Amino acid sequence: MTKTTIGIIGTGVVGERIINQALQNVHYEIAAIFDTNEARTAQLASKYNVPTTNDLQALLNLKPDWVYIGTPPVSHATLAAEIAKHGLHILSEKPLAHDAEDGETMVRIANEANVQTAMHFPLMYGAAVYQLKQELATGMGNITCIELHTYFPEWPRKWQQNPWIASREQGGFIREIFPHYLQLTHHLFGDVDILAHETTYPENEALCETGVSALAKTASGIPMVMNGLAGIGQEERIDFKIFGTEKVVTLRNWSEVYISKAYEPEVKITSDETPETMLDACRKVLLGEEAFVVPFQEGLKVQRWIDELLK
Ligand SMILES: NC(=O)c1ccc[n+]([C@@H]2O[C@H](COP(=O)([O-])OP(=O)(O)OC[C@H]3O[C@@H](n4cnc5c(N)ncnc54)[C@H](O)[C@@H]3O)[C@@H](O)[C@H]2O)c1
Repeated sequence: MTKTTIGIIGTGVVGERIINQALQNVHYEIAAIFDTNEARTAQLASKYNVPTTNDLQALLNLKPDWVYIGTPPVSHATLAAEIAKHGLHILSEKPLAHDAEDGETMVRIANEANVQTAMHFPLMYGAAVYQLKQELATGMGNITCIELHTYFPEWPRKWQQNPWIASREQGGFIREIFPHYLQLTHHLFGDVDILAHETTYPENEALCETGVSALAKTASGIPMVMNGLAGIGQEERIDFKIFGTEKVVTLRNWSEVYISKAYEPEVKITSDETPETMLDACRKVLLGEEAFVVPFQEGLKVQRWIDELLK
C-alpha cells in the first residue's frame, strides 16, 4: 500500500517526537524536515537519516500528504497559510495559534483551500484517556463537578527550556498545558463557558503568568473549577477530576487513571489497550476511512478559552 508522506516544519522538542512517530510507523515516509535553525536540522538529519530542505517552499514543493507545524505558536498561522496555498493537508501543534484571531484565519484558509486539518493532542491518543472514557461510561451516578489542577514547582519545566516558553507573548502554562485538558473537556462534555477567572502575572511584563483560578460551566451545566500555579513548593502534579455521585475518576500526570468510591481508598486502573495513533488516524482521513482527529475548528474553540483565561 502507498505510504503517507509527511513534511515536518519545526524540529524542536516536539518536532523530534513527531519524527520518531513517523519513523516508527510503517505506513509513513518523511518527505523532509525543515527548521529555521539550520544547525538543529543538520543534527537531526544525521541522527535519523531523514531528508532536509533549506527553506519552506522547497519542503512544500515536495507535496507531502500532510505538513506538520511544530514551531512556536506565533508562527502557526503564517505557516498554515503557506501550506494551504499549496493545497496540502495541515497537522498543527497545539495551541492552534498565537490567539483566537490567528486561529480564525487558520480555520478560514483551510476551509477555502479545502484541505484537511488535524491537531497534535497526544493525550487523546493515549491509553489513559481510553481508560477514563471506559470508567465514565458506567457507574458514575450524576456528574456534579469537573476539576483541573495544575501545579509546577517552576515554569518552564526543566525539559522544555527554549527562548519563548516563559514569555508572556506566547509561552506560559495556560497556553502550554490547559489546551490539552480544555480539549478533553470539550470532547467529553461539549462547550465550556468561562464564568469568572483571576490570572496573576509577575511585575516583569515580558514574563508569563504564575497563577490562574477559574470557574466555568459545561453546556449541560456541570460546574468546572480550574487552578494553575507555577513557582510553588511541591512536586509537579496535574489532576483532571470528574466527580460523580457514585464514583470519582482522576486522570493524573497525563497517563495515570484512578477511581475512588465513598469510604474506599483511591484505586489505580491499568489497561493493555493501545489506541490508534494520531498518524494512523491522519492517514485514514486521507483514505476516506473513519478516524479520530481534532480539527482546527475544535482547536479554535480551545484557543478562545485560552485567550479568555489569559486576560
Ligand atoms: N502536543 C504536545 O504535547 C506539545 C508539547 C510541548 C509543546 N507543544 C507545542 O509544540 C510547538 C513547539 O514546541 P517545542 O517545545 O517543540 O518548541 P522548540 O522551541 O523546542 O522548537 C521549535 C522549533 O521551531 C523552529 N522554528 C521557529 N520558527 C520557525 C519557522 N517559522 N519555520 C521553521 N522553523 C521554525 C525553531 O528553530 C525550533 O527548532 C509549540 O506550539 C508548543 O506549544 C506541544
